[in-house]
Amino acid sequence: MKASLENHEFEKISELLATDSGIIIKPDQKYLVETRLRGFAKQREFNNFSELYQRLVVNREDFKYFVDLMTTNETLWFRDQSCWETLKHRILPEFIRELETGRQSITIWSAACSTGQEPYSLAIQIYELLKAKGKTALWPRFRILGTDLSDTVLQTAKGAIYDAFSIKRGLSSSRLHAYFEEREEGWALNEQIKEIVEFRPFNLMHSFLLLGRFDLILCRNVLIYFSEATKLRLLDKFYQSLAPNRYLMMGGTESIMGLKTKFETLAFDKAVFYQKSLKN
Ligand SMILES: C[S@@+](CC[C@H](N)C(=O)[O-])C[C@H]1O[C@@H](n2cnc3c(N)ncnc32)[C@H](O)[C@@H]1O
Repeated sequence: MKASLENHEFEKISELLATDSGIIIKPDQKYLVETRLRGFAKQREFNNFSELYQRLVVNREDFKYFVDLMTTNETLWFRDQSCWETLKHRILPEFIRELETGRQSITIWSAACSTGQEPYSLAIQIYELLKAKGKTALWPRFRILGTDLSDTVLQTAKGAIYDAFSIKRGLSSSRLHAYFEEREEGWALNEQIKEIVEFRPFNLMHSFLLLGRFDLILCRNVLIYFSEATKLRLLDKFYQSLAPNRYLMMGGTESIMGLKTKFETLAFDKAVFYQKSLKN
C-alpha cells in the first residue's frame, strides 16, 4: 500500500482509539499511527487508510489488533528504584503487621501491567521481605491482580518467560539466578513467585465495580496517554476501589499535582505515594 495517512483519516482513526481506550494521539504524532498501521493495512491488502478504518469499525478482532498495535508496552523490572524502597520499608511492613493481627489477605492491583514485570517485581519484593523477616507463612495471603488492555502483553505476562533483552532490564544478577531458570525459550520465572499473581484483560475505561477493593493500586506510566478529563475520572475510580487509608503508587516521574482529586499526598524520603485518607 502506497497511500499516505491523510489528516481526515488520522482524525477518524485516533478518535476510534480514544473512544475505546482513552489513548490520545496528538496531531504531531500522526507518523506514529502511520508507521504502526502501515504493515497491518498492507497485510490486509487495503488500498488506503480509509479502507482500514472501515474494517476497524465493523470487525472486533481487527479492532483489538489495532488497539494492540497502538499501545506502548515499555516496561522493566523494579522500574524507578525509589518507589520500591518506599514499598519495602514503609508500605509492605504495614501490610505484614496487619496480616499478623487478624487481616485475612492483602490485595494489590497492577492496573496496566504490560508484560508482567511490574506485578512480578512486586511479588519478588514481598517474598524477599517475608523471607528476611522469617514470615514466609504469610506469602499465600498476598494476592496480586495484573490487568492490561492488550491480550498480547498478557500472554507474555502469564507465560512469564522473558527473552535476553527484557530479562536484563532492571533485574539484578542475583535476582535473575534466584528466581529464574534459563530454558531454550528464555528465562522462566519460578512457580512460587507466579503463585500469588493472576492476570486478566481489563480496559481502564470500564467500570471498576466488579474488581473489588484493594490495599494498593499501581497505576504507573499509563495516565500519560490520557486526556486530563480521563485522568480525573480514572483517579476517582481508583479512589473508590481502594480500602480506607490505602495507597496508590504511580510512576517515579509521574504526579497528580495540579489535578483535583481526593487523594492525600504522602511524600516519603525518595518517593511519593497517594493515600485514600479517612478525612475525605
Ligand atoms: C508503558 S506501559 C506501563 C507498564 C507498567 N505499568 C510500567 O510502568 O512499567 C502502559 C500499559 O498501559 C496499557 N494500557 C493503555 N491503555 C489502557 C487502558 N485503557 N486500559 C488498560 N490498559 C491500558 C498498555 O497496553 C500498556 O501495556
